[in-house]
Amino acid sequence: MELRWRVSHLPTAWMSLLRWRLCKIMAAIVPKKDAPGVDLCGTDQYYYIVRSDVGCYMRSTNFNKGEDLDVFSLHPACSNGDHYLAYDDDLFYIIKGTSFRCVSDIGTDEGAIVCSLHPSCQGGDHYFSAFGNFYIVYQNQGVYRRTKNMTTYKDGIEYSLHPDCKDALYYYGIKDCYYFVRPHEEWGVQYYRCTNFNTNESGQASSFHPSVINFLPGGLGLTHGPSAGVWTCIKTIKNDSQNHTTWSNKVPVTQGFDKEKLSPIENNWNISASLPVETGLSALLTKSQFSLAPTYGGSNVNTDGENWKLTTIEETISVLLEPGKEAYVWQYQLSLGSDAVLFCRDLRFDDPNKPPVVIPLPPAKH
Ligand SMILES: *[C@@H]1O[C@H](CO)[C@@H](O)[C@H](O)[C@H]1NC(C)=O
Ligand SMILES: *[C@@H]1O[C@H](CO)[C@@H](O)[C@H](O)[C@H]1NC(C)=O
Ligand SMILES: *[C@@H]1O[C@H](CO)[C@@H](O)[C@H](O)[C@H]1NC(C)=O
Ligand SMILES: *[C@@H]1O[C@H](CO)[C@@H](O)[C@H](O)[C@H]1NC(C)=O
Ligand SMILES: *[C@@H]1O[C@H](CO)[C@@H](O)[C@H](O)[C@H]1NC(C)=O
Repeated sequence: MELRWRVSHLPTAWMSLLRWRLCKIMAAIVPKKDAPGVDLCGTDQYYYIVRSDVGCYMRSTNFNKGEDLDVFSLHPACSNGDHYLAYDDDLFYIIKGTSFRCVSDIGTDEGAIVCSLHPSCQGGDHYFSAFGNFYIVYQNQGVYRRTKNMTTYKDGIEYSLHPDCKDALYYYGIKDCYYFVRPHEEWGVQYYRCTNFNTNESGQASSFHPSVINFLPGGLGLTHGPSAGVWTCIKTIKNDSQNHTTWSNKVPVTQGFDKEKLSPIENNWNISASLPVETGLSALLTKSQFSLAPTYGGSNVNTDGENWKLTTIEETISVLLEPGKEAYVWQYQLSLGSDAVLFCRDLRFDDPNKPPVVIPLPPAKH
């Protein structure tokens, strides 16, 4: 008598269940309030997206065309700010609590000075700079303040936010205009150019280039589909004999992050050599996507403990088979959209009709 076994990938029933689940789950750009250490800002010719959670920032000359997308590492001293803004051509302000750090380069922390924030400039929901002024948005109150100096509140004045400018995810300014990012709507994620938030003057919409969306928090959920954790049957072991038997063998098991399954996200990014390369930027962004709440297309799991390097290991599997019964080997896999991209360490042997229900990963740290 011979031992019959076959490898089965995602069974059809599970495929359809997965598709059903995906329809039910949302994907969205994470708003500023739920994305600590993340912000957008701009200078005269560059726009920036700061991602403290992945330790780097993107610089572009055009978010709509996705032009000149350079990614640099963020200096630790400039990481985890509550807010980021850029003044004129050359100065970045990183706000933390009641003080701010002013530097000429957030990648090198050059020229750092720390100053205190005037009480009238504290506790804002958004900060940006344009026209040589600083702006502080208090979104819940529907107002914003403008000042020449955040330490002295020089020429400080408060305006009401026009209703069209109120429900934004992010606000950022460049030298001579400012922008806000609206939630994902029928035309996707868009940013609006404005010259006056009090009147919604010249509000004009543009869409983000997909290569830019990939770098925004929650963006991978929009470009690839939301993430999902699924137990997948990777092997069925069967013994048709009449007797009890112990089946024991080496089974190849794939572990780690399969970057190839993810449609390329770094393609037109020019990634600075100073970034750590072992894991790769797409792995870091994917890890961040998995940690998000389901509302933002995440799975709320912490995958730091997983092996992110793609390898195939030989697992020795030994199972006691009852006469005529089958044994099933399940692996926990995390997918983005329809493709499994992270193959986890966890294997379970379970009933054929009931895949395991536990989530074998710790919850995300928020
Ligand atoms: C079932 O197990 C027995 C005992 O280990 C083995 O001799 C036999 O070849 C197995 N039969 C099949 C069909 O795999
Ligand atoms: C703000 O005022 C402080 C105190 O007078 C001064 O040191 C600082 O240079 C001013 N900053 C700007 C941007 O004008
Ligand atoms: C400004 O208001 C007009 C009319 O309500 C609207 O069509 C336009 O989209 C608004 N602009 C922005 C930036 O919201
Ligand atoms: C099952 O076990 C019994 C007792 O050990 C043995 O006589 C019999 O040949 C076995 N049957 C098969 C199909 O291996
Ligand atoms: C990539 O970025 C570096 C550093 O900013 C720059 O020197 C280089 O010209 C860029 N390469 C391309 C192809 O844009």
